[in-house]
Amino acid sequence: MKKVGLVGWRGMVGSVLMQRMRDENDFATIEPVFFTTSQIGLLAPEIGKPSDTLKDAFAIDELAKMDIVVTCQGGDYTNEVYPKLRAAGWKGYWIDAASSLRMQDDSIIALDPVNKDVIQQGIKDGVKTFVGGNCTVSLLLMALGGLFEEELIEWVTPHTYQAASGAGARNMRELISQMGSISASVADKLADPASAILEIDQQVAEHIRSDALPKEQFGAPLAGSLIPWIDVPMPSGQSKEEWKAQVEANKILGTSDKQVPIDGLCVRIGAMRCHSQAITMKLKKDISVAEIERILGAHNEWVKVIPNERDITIEELSPAKVTGTLTIPVGRIRKLAMGPEYVTAFTVGDQLLWGAAEPLRRMLNILQA
Ligand code: HSE
Repeated sequence: MKKVGLVGWRGMVGSVLMQRMRDENDFATIEPVFFTTSQIGLLAPEIGKPSDTLKDAFAIDELAKMDIVVTCQGGDYTNEVYPKLRAAGWKGYWIDAASSLRMQDDSIIALDPVNKDVIQQGIKDGVKTFVGGNCTVSLLLMALGGLFEEELIEWVTPHTYQAASGAGARNMRELISQMGSISASVADKLADPASAILEIDQQVAEHIRSDALPKEQFGAPLAGSLIPWIDVPMPSGQSKEEWKAQVEANKILGTSDKQVPIDGLCVRIGAMRCHSQAITMKLKKDISVAEIERILGAHNEWVKVIPNERDITIEELSPAKVTGTLTIPVGRIRKLAMGPEYVTAFTVGDQLLWGAAEPLRRMLNILQA
């Protein structure tokens, strides 16, 4: 059994990873060692079998005893520990949720339903560092994997509707607090069916703009509003989240030398943990909607094509339905007025599952096969 060091398992992505590993009985086939940045020597979490007490996540000699390290601790931790561990001569596999090492030449972005061949070739070539992709990128490729695989896409514009969870646990709490605060600000008028809606609206607008709305985390109202900027600015005018789409997707696909252009606007909206994306794409040829649906639906076992019909779309193609599941619905597929190669689609995915934890646990399993 491989010794697997787990770091950052208590945070949000780490907790989802732990739950998935318990659900899939992944702990049965590894010897887990739990690391901590703050609680050295305390008991390890319950995983259905005994494990040692918590080790120091900054102790290079302890980490160096691992065959594999899986970390959800974040970029600062990776930046501090990974170079020291490699410099100490450690040749183990490093599996990381953070973005720090994603674009390094000696790392692979792991999303095996899409790039299993890239991963397998990398393992043969001696690659030791595997990183989970940006959540919107992984979710986009899970949805459109079939069209990418058949090399049918000339370019893609994904406009995102990103959930609070992508910004962190505190942001999820703040979104709920904002919702509660708005509701409370007009509770008396809401309770009175005779009250005037424009008065309620006016009071809500004033409340949202006021200092009474909690916005320490987002720095702006999200509930009852949206934030059309995610992450830091890039010289191109893109936000960093927007910049990641093309570079990461093409790295995942192994097409970095002849990149498919992928670029659109990234927007934070008031969903909890599902990112949605409205996609415009140009195909290399005119193929029917039925054929597009067949290709998309056949690509992997999680993608689910939703017919472009109203009732099933509002039922199935929504964060409320998808949250907490591995299903990747893709629907609203139709030709655009611009011409027969121009196609639109809409997809939703849980950004903590396929967008973060799931590719990591699957990568861990691939390394043991
Ligand atoms: N950067 C993403 C977001 C989350 O802010 O929603 C993780 O990739």
